[in-house]
Amino acid sequence: MAQRETWTTRAGFVLAAVGSAVGLGNIWQFPFKTAENGGAAFVLVYLLAAVLIGLPTILGEFAIGRRAKLNAVEAFDRLDHPAWTVVGGLGLFTGLWILSYYSVVGGWVIRYTIGSLTGGYFGGTAAYFGAVSAGWEAIAFHALFMALTAGIVAFGIEDGIEKATKLMVPSVVLMLVGLAVYAFTLDGSGPAYSYYLSPDMDYLANNLGSVIPFAVSQAFFSLSLGMGAMITYASYLSDDDSLPADGGLVVGLNTLIGVLAGLVVIPLLFVQFSQIPETAAGGGPGALFVSVAQVFGGLGITGRILGALFFFVVLIAALSSAISLLEVVTAYCVDRYEWNRMATAFGFGGVLFLLGTLSAWDTAWLGWFDTLAYSVLLPASVLLGVIFVGWVYGPEAVEEMEKGADGAGQYATLWIWWLRTVVFVGVLVTLYLGVTSIYASPGLPGL
Ligand code: PFF
Repeated sequence: MAQRETWTTRAGFVLAAVGSAVGLGNIWQFPFKTAENGGAAFVLVYLLAAVLIGLPTILGEFAIGRRAKLNAVEAFDRLDHPAWTVVGGLGLFTGLWILSYYSVVGGWVIRYTIGSLTGGYFGGTAAYFGAVSAGWEAIAFHALFMALTAGIVAFGIEDGIEKATKLMVPSVVLMLVGLAVYAFTLDGSGPAYSYYLSPDMDYLANNLGSVIPFAVSQAFFSLSLGMGAMITYASYLSDDDSLPADGGLVVGLNTLIGVLAGLVVIPLLFVQFSQIPETAAGGGPGALFVSVAQVFGGLGITGRILGALFFFVVLIAALSSAISLLEVVTAYCVDRYEWNRMATAFGFGGVLFLLGTLSAWDTAWLGWFDTLAYSVLLPASVLLGVIFVGWVYGPEAVEEMEKGADGAGQYATLWIWWLRTVVFVGVLVTLYLGVTSIYASPGLPGL
C-alpha cells in the first residue's frame, strides 16, 4: 500500500479542521438561531453544549480517524468493527443532505458579494433579500457555489484550501471584531447586549425542551460532527500529535467566532427593528443578509468595498466547510471503488445541486431540510458514534487519546466515562426531543 499522506504541520491540521468548523453555521446560523431561541439563554446552553458535549465528541472522531487512517466509512472496517460501518454511512448521508441546502446559502453569499460591489441591495435590504433568496436567481448562484465546491475537491485541497484557510481565520476574526465595534457605537444597539449576554432564566426554564436540542445540535453542526468530516481529516494525522490539545483549539476558536458573529448581527437587528423581528425577512435565515447588509448600504462607496470584503470572507469560510462535506464521500468512493476523483466530485455535486433546487426555489423547503438535519439526522448520527467510541471501541480509544498527548493523556479514562454517561444521555435526550418536535409538527412545505 502506498504511504498515506499526513499533515505536514500541526497548524495544517488545526487550520483545516477550523476551516471545516467555521462557516455559515457560525456566521449565518448561530446569530439567528440565538434570536429565535431566547437570546442569552440559548447562548448559555450552547456554550455548555460545545464544551461538555461537543469537545468530548470531537475527540472521539479524532480517535477513530487517526487510528484507522482511512476514510470515514471504511475506518470502521479497519478497526475490526465492520457492523459499525453504518455509523460512517449515516454520517456520509447526513453530510450530503446538509450540503444540498448549505450550498443554497453559499449561493446567497456569492450574490451578496457581487451585490455589494454594484450597490445592488443599497436601496432596501429586506426587499433585495426576498428577491434573491428564492427562485431562479437563487438556483443559479446555488449552482455556482456547488460547482466551486466540486472544483476545489476535484483538483485537490492541499494548496488551495490550506492557503485559503490560513488567511480566512484571521480575516474572519478581524472583520467581525471591526463590525462588532461599529455596531456597539450605533444608537439603539444597547438593549441587544442584555438580550444576548444576560440569560433570562425564566425563559430558559419554560423552554428547556426546545432550547436544549437546538443548542446541542447547533454545536454538532458548527463543529462539523456526525458527518465524517473530522474522522476524515484526523485520518491524515500523525501519532505524535496531541488530540486533546487540537480538539480544545478547534472548539475554542469555533465557539469564539460564533459568539463574535452574534455580537455583530444581534445589535444590528436591534438597531434596525428596535427588537428581534418576527418576520422572516428581517430575522430568521435572512438576519445576516438583511441586518449586516443594511450597515454597508448606509456607507456609500466605502460600504461597497467593505461589504464585498465581508461577504467574500464569509464565502471562503463557507467554501472551506462545504469542501469538507463533499470530501467525505469523495474520499470514500476514490479509496473504495477507485472512482475518478473529478468525476466523483462533480457527480455528487450535480446530484446535490438537483436536491438543493428545492431549497433554492422556496426558503420553506430550506427550513424543512434544516429542521430535519437538526432534529433527527445530526443527533442520531452523533449518538451512534458516541455509543461506538464509548462502549465498543473504548479501551483502544483511550489508548489512542493517550498517544502524543503528554500530560493530558492521564485524563483519557475520565474522558471515556464522560462520553459513556453524560454525553450519551445528553445526545439521547436531544434526539428524543428533536424527534418528538418533528412528530408534533412535521411542517412539510406545501403539504
Ligand atoms: N461546520 C460548518 C459550519 O458551521 O458552517 C458546516 C459543516 C461543515 C458541517 C462540514 C459539517 C461538515 F462536515
